[in-house]
Amino acid sequence: MKKPKAKSARRKIAEVSHRPSAPRVAIAIMAAGKGTRLKSQLPKVLHEVGGKPLLEHVIRAALRVAPASDIYAIIGHEAQRVRAALQHTGVRFVLQAEQRGTGHALMVARDALAGYDHVIVLSGDAPLITPQTIEHLRDFHLAEKAAMTLLSADLANPTGYGRVLRKSARSADVEAIVEEKAASPAEKKIREINSGFYVFSVENMYGHIDELSTDNPHSEYYLTDMAEVLRRAKKRVVAWKTENPGEVLGGNTRAELADIDHFLRMAKARQLMADGVTIYYPATCVIDADVAVAPDTIIEPYVQLLGNTRIGTRCRVSSYSVIRDTEIGDEVTIRPGCMMSESRIEARAILGPYSHLRPGSEIGEGAHVGNFVETKKIKLGKGSKANHLTYLGDAEIGANVNVGAGTITCNYDGMHKHKTIIEDGVFVGSDSTLVAPVRVGKGAYVAAASCITDDVPDGALALGRARQIVKEGWAKEKRVKRANES
Ligand code: UD1
Ligand code: CA
Repeated sequence: MKKPKAKSARRKIAEVSHRPSAPRVAIAIMAAGKGTRLKSQLPKVLHEVGGKPLLEHVIRAALRVAPASDIYAIIGHEAQRVRAALQHTGVRFVLQAEQRGTGHALMVARDALAGYDHVIVLSGDAPLITPQTIEHLRDFHLAEKAAMTLLSADLANPTGYGRVLRKSARSADVEAIVEEKAASPAEKKIREINSGFYVFSVENMYGHIDELSTDNPHSEYYLTDMAEVLRRAKKRVVAWKTENPGEVLGGNTRAELADIDHFLRMAKARQLMADGVTIYYPATCVIDADVAVAPDTIIEPYVQLLGNTRIGTRCRVSSYSVIRDTEIGDEVTIRPGCMMSESRIEARAILGPYSHLRPGSEIGEGAHVGNFVETKKIKLGKGSKANHLTYLGDAEIGANVNVGAGTITCNYDGMHKHKTIIEDGVFVGSDSTLVAPVRVGKGAYVAAASCITDDVPDGALALGRARQIVKEGWAKEKRVKRANES
């Protein structure tokens, strides 16, 4: 077969220059409002659902559609706090110093958006929106060559939302959006609501945005009024109705936030179950979005898996355990009521019930940490055991060590932290205190109830307690004496 001839460089350039250049599209996220209905000190968009602030969910969806440099979060109420919480996303910020409505939010973004052809407008308090829906809305807007395109949805209970007034039931064209407070009884019956997500032609929006008025119950500039303003100017205003009305839900009240949180948690649980994880009573578990669990692990009721926690295969996590930012190997057993954060647990370890692993705890393969054992910044070697009522802090513990019940590492002298080193194969008798800095050498024995202040050589026995004194008959005599006195 003949190879197709390579196109000449000149022809290629000619083709490229004939193609209409791609429109420049920005995303603006309205996030300046106070959230009066939440009755909170915390700005609305920083309230968390699914373990993350509302606004972070919206930014994450936006980042799948456009680069951070084309995303503008419009912030105002507690702007510094909002910026600090979301700076790590890399998006740009626009300040709406005074919050005079959603229309005003876009007025203050005029300069920032001047270099774009279209702007997708998202609500910072509606975190369930997906990148697919945003893209679909954008593409619909571009295909319809509209001045304004809004995302609508049919809700069973539309109360509180703006209603979409269409030119006719069949047409995409929109006459106006009427807010709940201004709606007539007939308009209130309309179930098609305005989601608060839009795409605008930048030229058309800023050509007419100054025609907005504050003649409404809140004396605010409503972005929703742009529908009527643009219609009056004979511009095209259309709506695209999503099939997934759940995506547009906003978190205006604590009850709505709880609904959204529940939705996100269940979606995460369902995804894990689809991937092969067993979760009993998933509605009782709180699992953050970034948590990873391998197949055939079992999660019992009332478990919280938070932050960047990662869990291997064939583990069992029992009820009432709260695990944050912790890496857990395969076949680990976590008995009820364990708390752990920023720790690492190797394969086949057994923890709990009621173990408390504080940051920097590294539990070796097959090691046991039992009830009422607290650890902090330690290494517990392969096969070692600390099964009862113990505090281990700033310690390096080797393999096959037996830490007796009630052992305490005295790691703090009131000013500085000191290290305890316990080498392989050591046996620490119950109720011992190890006053750091101290080292117990390989295979040594520490007698029960010892206070160890000096290093113990390899293979030695250390007895750190006073010798027992026995006074024969002492108790008996005392009782007789007391009886005679009375
Ligand atoms: C808005 C719409 C309503 C729609 C609903 C969907 C208006 C007038 N109404 O109502 O038609 O059904 O969303 O959820 O737009 N914000 C600013 N600056 C301001 C005011 C608000 O950035 O000056 C931000 C808020 O932080 C919020 C978003 O804009 O993230 C929407 O404002 P909100 O007050 O929640 O509007 P809704 O009453 O929900
Ligand atoms: Ca809202």
